[in-house]
Amino acid sequence: MPQIQEDFNLKEYNTFGIAAKARFFVQLTSEDEIPWLLEQPEYQENQVLWLGGGSNMLLTKDFAGLVVQLNFKGTEVQYLSDEVVLVSAAAGENWHQLVQYCLSLNLGGIENLALIPGNVGTAPIQNIGAYGVELKDTFYQLRAFDLQTGQFVGFTADECQFGYRDSLFKKAGKGRYIITQVTLRLSAKNHKLNTSYGAIQQELEKQGAEASIHTIAQAVINIRSQKLPNPAEIGNSGSFFKNPVIDNGQFSQLEKQYPGIAHYKLQDGSIKLAAGWLIEQAGWKGYRNGDAGVHPKQALVLVNYGKATGPEIEDLAHQVKTSVFSKFAVNLEPEVNII
Ligand code: EPU
Repeated sequence: MPQIQEDFNLKEYNTFGIAAKARFFVQLTSEDEIPWLLEQPEYQENQVLWLGGGSNMLLTKDFAGLVVQLNFKGTEVQYLSDEVVLVSAAAGENWHQLVQYCLSLNLGGIENLALIPGNVGTAPIQNIGAYGVELKDTFYQLRAFDLQTGQFVGFTADECQFGYRDSLFKKAGKGRYIITQVTLRLSAKNHKLNTSYGAIQQELEKQGAEASIHTIAQAVINIRSQKLPNPAEIGNSGSFFKNPVIDNGQFSQLEKQYPGIAHYKLQDGSIKLAAGWLIEQAGWKGYRNGDAGVHPKQALVLVNYGKATGPEIEDLAHQVKTSVFSKFAVNLEPEVNII
């Protein structure tokens, strides 16, 4: 059975690279170890933090309880027909490696989600999305351990209640379910390509490439590598804030004052603003104080250049939020979990 370690430095286990400590730490390599863990005094007597790839959180202090890192591995492929394939991956598989594996089998559906940091098991929690595609578009089902009943349960897409960077696992199911495996429904031929995002079209033209699942993935990789810092080099958690949604009335006012305001119209008539644009206009792009900063190429990404502490990043986020609110009267909500 796994070993529970004490006073464990979490720096390698969060992509922000924050050197906070866990009082106890354990890594699980099989979902069968969950019932064992539940019997352990370190589990029963402490607050518990379940961790995947640590790519969507900011640690602001040492964690006084037990951190459980889910490291289940394994991928299965099941052809339902010559066109439709189910791919099931264990929670601890790296998301981008899964994307690459699917591409190597010529399976389509998640190519726009290339290079998103994090693990498979956390992808449904915030319904990861990029370049016009979200996880929910290919999601088939997931398997989770219910901490309340002690049973494994399955969830369909509807049951997951996916929304923009949102799901049941951030709402009523928060803290209750441990996602152990995710199944996607992918295409083996006649792929539905999504090149609606302007940057992808431009990148394909630049490469002189026909759209295919492979060239789209490469375009996404190129775009992301140009704009977004690689967490292995500069600590970050991707977009720190969500893109805020406002009503049309407020938008009309803002647009009069700022005609270039970056935005997208949503189906219900409300308007999603690009938080990166707001933050840049408020003067924060490229700002740096010590090792905490706002990325010079994408203002929505806060970065740790090395030794920034959680409170330093949190303080910077607070300053950015306050300044955007005073300039635009728009409230930014963190996308990242602050712990
Ligand atoms: N913009 C600026 N300045 C900036 C950044 C962006 O003016 O510093 C403008 C851009 O010019 C563009 C607009 O804002 O007009 C949107 O920028 P971008 O295409 O970079 O996307 P985003 O809305 O900032 C979202 C996701 C990203 C995802 C991209 C691509 C959220 C919170 N973020 O960012 O997801 O990769 O779209 O689809 O929805 C993540 O969640 O961690 C993440 C990186």
